[in-house]
Amino acid sequence: MKSIKKFLQMKKQQEPIVMITAYDYPSGKYAEAAGVDLILTGDSLGMVVLGYTDTLQVTLKDMIHHARATRRGAPDTFIIADMPHMSYHISIEKTKINAGQLFKEGSVNAVKLEGGKPSRLEAIKAITDCEIPVCAHLGLTPQSINTMGGYVVQGKEEKEYQSILQQALEIEDAGAFMLVLEGIPEKLGKEISDKLCIPTIGIGAGRYTDGQVLVYHDILGMSEFKPKFVKQYYDLKTDIVKSIEDWKTEVKERIFPSKEYIYLPLDQ
Ligand code: KIV
Repeated sequence: MKSIKKFLQMKKQQEPIVMITAYDYPSGKYAEAAGVDLILTGDSLGMVVLGYTDTLQVTLKDMIHHARATRRGAPDTFIIADMPHMSYHISIEKTKINAGQLFKEGSVNAVKLEGGKPSRLEAIKAITDCEIPVCAHLGLTPQSINTMGGYVVQGKEEKEYQSILQQALEIEDAGAFMLVLEGIPEKLGKEISDKLCIPTIGIGAGRYTDGQVLVYHDILGMSEFKPKFVKQYYDLKTDIVKSIEDWKTEVKERIFPSKEYIYLPLDQ
């Protein structure tokens, strides 16, 4: 399993870091088989696995359940799990308890939380102080869609650009070991990555972050939407529906099960 030290080394040596989301035993297993550097059990599971319209309904219990399953599929890969909405917003005490529960019961190596305002920096410090590594997340932070006014690219205006850059620097000072940058201009992704010592992982943040992350279901073509930053490497949705249709037709036409699929056929 790669370590935080290794991710830092990869950044120094300019070796791209590959992160993919995974949410259960099979996706964890296939991600590990493909040799990704690390896995994120993201709260995007709310949308791609649980069928919610956003990530806000995901609970700590959901996250623990899915992180544990991912770990069973990927025993040898560094896993980060998302702290869900409202699990790090109430008090430092509750934040530490929730982070500890996700870390221990989810059997993960680190937790991730969104945002960079002062209360988030306090949360990063407090969780890190419990010896739980924290990955931060800036830019288009999906848990803030209601206050951000939807899924909109962040940091296009100078004031917002500078504010995200400043928050990134403060996040590093607060002790985060990694920073996910989502939905920002390429120039900002590059500037943050150049200025920070910790690795940055981009999603819709251009070519110059230290690594890239994409959602498992997006890469494989199993999602409902395809944002601009997604490259779909397969059209699994079509193949799944086609396979089920083929089987359905064969059952209806009494083609399946043929003799090779039967224990002790009557006519043998
Ligand atoms: O929840 C998630 O999958 C994420 C990634 C999109 C970075 O946070």
